[in-house]
Amino acid sequence: MATLKTQTNLLLFLLTVSSAASIGVNYGTIADNLPPPPQVAAFLAQRTYIDRVKLFSADPSLLRAFAGTSIAVTVTASNSDIPSLARSPSAASAWVSSNLLPFIPATNITRVAVGNEVLATGDKLLISLLVPAMRSLSAAIAAAGLSVQVSTPHSLGILAASDPPSSGRFRRGYDRVIFRPMLDYHRRTKTPFLVNPYPYFGFTPKTLNYALFRPNSGVFDAVTGFNYTNMFDAQLDAVYSAMNRLGYGDVDIVVAETGWPSVGDPDQTAVNVENALSYNGNVIRHVSSGKGTPLMPNRTFETYLFALFNEDLKPSTSERNFGLFRPDFSPVYDVGLLRDNSSVSFVYCANGGKKWCVARGDAAADVLQSNIDYACGHGADCADIQAGGACYQPDTLLAHASYAMNAYYQASGRNDFDCDFAGTGIITTTDPSPNLSAFLQCFMDHGKVPPQPTITTSHRKPHLWIRQSNNHIRSVRLKRDVVTP
Ligand SMILES: *[C@@H]1O[C@H](CO)[C@@H](O)[C@H](O)[C@H]1NC(C)=O
Ligand SMILES: *[C@@H]1O[C@H](CO)[C@@H](O)[C@H](O)[C@H]1NC(C)=O
Ligand SMILES: *[C@@H]1O[C@H](CO)[C@@H](O)[C@H](O)[C@H]1NC(C)=O
Ligand SMILES: *[C@@H]1O[C@H](CO)[C@@H](O)[C@H](O)[C@H]1NC(C)=O
Ligand SMILES: *[C@@H]1O[C@H](CO)[C@@H](O)[C@H](O)[C@H]1NC(C)=O
Repeated sequence: MATLKTQTNLLLFLLTVSSAASIGVNYGTIADNLPPPPQVAAFLAQRTYIDRVKLFSADPSLLRAFAGTSIAVTVTASNSDIPSLARSPSAASAWVSSNLLPFIPATNITRVAVGNEVLATGDKLLISLLVPAMRSLSAAIAAAGLSVQVSTPHSLGILAASDPPSSGRFRRGYDRVIFRPMLDYHRRTKTPFLVNPYPYFGFTPKTLNYALFRPNSGVFDAVTGFNYTNMFDAQLDAVYSAMNRLGYGDVDIVVAETGWPSVGDPDQTAVNVENALSYNGNVIRHVSSGKGTPLMPNRTFETYLFALFNEDLKPSTSERNFGLFRPDFSPVYDVGLLRDNSSVSFVYCANGGKKWCVARGDAAADVLQSNIDYACGHGADCADIQAGGACYQPDTLLAHASYAMNAYYQASGRNDFDCDFAGTGIITTTDPSPNLSAFLQCFMDHGKVPPQPTITTSHRKPHLWIRQSNNHIRSVRLKRDVVTP
């Protein structure tokens, strides 16, 4: 008995640990102090268990930043794109040509969100064009030969009733006209229905523990006989009930946003780090546990926490403090998404960190060349070491490798591991070798910190993006004038 129990606990533990390796975040950018997108992408890919991001736009600098990572990206077509997407197939294909084709496959774009909480705008025309826009964009994506899902996120304002969960139904007027064709589209295309449940917006002082997944007396649904012990499950089941009422209980649900702020105004006593940690930590465990909800047993829910960063330009204190991380990448609280504790030292150094990455003088020529290939293919701006470029002299493999490795190191956020290059990189604050001094002067004068990777569109080949965990590449060569020692 005891042994069996231990094994079960061990199994549960393993399940918890392995499944924790899949959570998404919303990468909002209403701030003036966030690190450059390539650093954000490198941080997420290398230092966290976060493997999906949802963007609130199709900003090309954000899309480019995730190139070469396996992070799954959801891009958003703005609400104002909806009328043209709905009315014109050529506008839909133009949207695909400018917002998807240049970035795929280097960036793993898996889904487009058409608009954001469109029904909450109350704009009747926009709402009536939403499903046609989704269908039209989906057709344009298929015609372009891409495999990218199309969906749209909803606030829980789409529900007319949600308590008890079994009473969940969509708002009258929208149920048959909007949600039936939308859910039919989702079923046909095997795409999920996206919802933004926020117990944070639904709790009262009496239901705080229920909202935070803490011990509480539960809420009983007399129709189903289920006793709900957390508000998140109750909100998801209310959505499920509304979908099921129209005959679409089989369509998958994705949690496109959920979260809890860590700082509020003095009167917001339920807003603090402990509660944010309790809510987000429990959500992460719960959605990936495989437990599901009372009405959706055993389901897991792809989930995007809101939000990646604290965003300083949002209007209220609590809105500015939904972030899991501060702009310097330090965690606001430890919700278990960092791969190890050292990540706290992943500090974003703005201009003038006065650290450079250079190649070891004793590194083998083929390794130096593959460092150049890797760095120049992953965000380093290597224009100045092309023949005739400002840092072409001294024309040696060592100098060019140092330039490229440094440019990569600077672009990736000056993390020690970004200068590893399988042990052939050295971080320096001063001139490491007299042979390199002219060259170091060149980086200081010309070595740019590129705002984003420069290898971006047409000539990008997927095989260039193979990255191994030791920060090194399988020998893939870029087409460039080969530098000789
Ligand atoms: C893209 O993301 C999906 C979802 O996480 C993942 O299954 C897939 O392997 C990723 N693709 C690449 C090329 O990394
Ligand atoms: C619901 O569950 C809670 C927590 O397990 C328990 O305290 C409560 O008595 C239950 N209520 C009903 C009606 O079953
Ligand atoms: C959920 O999983 C449990 C345990 O594995 C199993 O007994 C049950 O039948 C499953 N329920 C559904 C609806 O699949
Ligand atoms: C991480 O940090 C916590 C708290 O500082 C510490 O208790 C724990 O041992 C650390 N874990 C590792 C793997 O270093
Ligand atoms: C520096 O240059 C000299 C001659 O140019 C060479 O002999 C020496 O090996 C170089 N040192 C390093 C560390 O590359």
